[in-house]
Amino acid sequence: MSDMDKPKRKVMRVHHFAQKKRDGMPITMLTAYDAITARICDEAGVDSLLIGDSYGTTYMGLSSTMEVNLEDIVHATRNVARGAHYAFIIADLPFGSYESSPSQAVDSAVQLIKAGAHAVKLEGGVRQAHTIEALVKAGINVCGHIGYTPQSIHSLGGPRIQGRGDQEKCLHDDAQAVDDAGAFACVLEMVPSGVAEKITSSVSCATIGIGAGNATDGQVLVSTDMFGSVGWVPRFVEKFANLDDVMSKAVRQYCDDVHSRRFPSREHSFAS
Ligand code: KIV
Repeated sequence: MSDMDKPKRKVMRVHHFAQKKRDGMPITMLTAYDAITARICDEAGVDSLLIGDSYGTTYMGLSSTMEVNLEDIVHATRNVARGAHYAFIIADLPFGSYESSPSQAVDSAVQLIKAGAHAVKLEGGVRQAHTIEALVKAGINVCGHIGYTPQSIHSLGGPRIQGRGDQEKCLHDDAQAVDDAGAFACVLEMVPSGVAEKITSSVSCATIGIGAGNATDGQVLVSTDMFGSVGWVPRFVEKFANLDDVMSKAVRQYCDDVHSRRFPSREHSFAS
């Protein structure tokens, strides 16, 4: 089949999240921070690309996502928007860009939408409901994020599973608050799978799990984790490739070939 004959992929829009939830068709989401990764993921058929603040701990080499600034996410969002044509683009509101007031959140979100995002994501349930409402009122699509929320790593006492035992009720309240405030989707991070399943069937927005089992409406992973570009990954990640090895082998080969003058060969050189 030639490229011309191939059926064109449908552009993923906000209402398709609800449609896929209704149809029981799992939603796929991956993080991306640059145009090349965005293009590869987009062409391979991923539904949604997230410019997560994990940009900081992956590409930027920072020690926590809390060091990421709004300008960093704006820059990465522009890159991703240039590389992707079908996937629904969600940009993270980084720590410090939305907590002061709903109007601060709207101002920050406007910058991300202008950079090419179709929606923004923010962390927090009940405590962020007013902010989600303000964003939705301003015409901005919002994805919530509850359970383990990395921007609150210090108050949560580290990366710990959320919603076990007595905490389950709070997690349900958070999910309901995000849903009632008008979010179209909500990330559930590091939540017991049974709890994630109950939340998924009780809210109208699409749930996107990461470390939340198999019953959510969709899944998200940090792309550098699933590509195997990093050594250690959390237990809930599967490495679908081993890019670290592939790239390292390529670089060693390049160095050897330059040292031995095998590269560049005649075919890589211009005649006079
Ligand atoms: O920043 C990020 O990559 C995220 C995902 C882990 C959901 O928020």
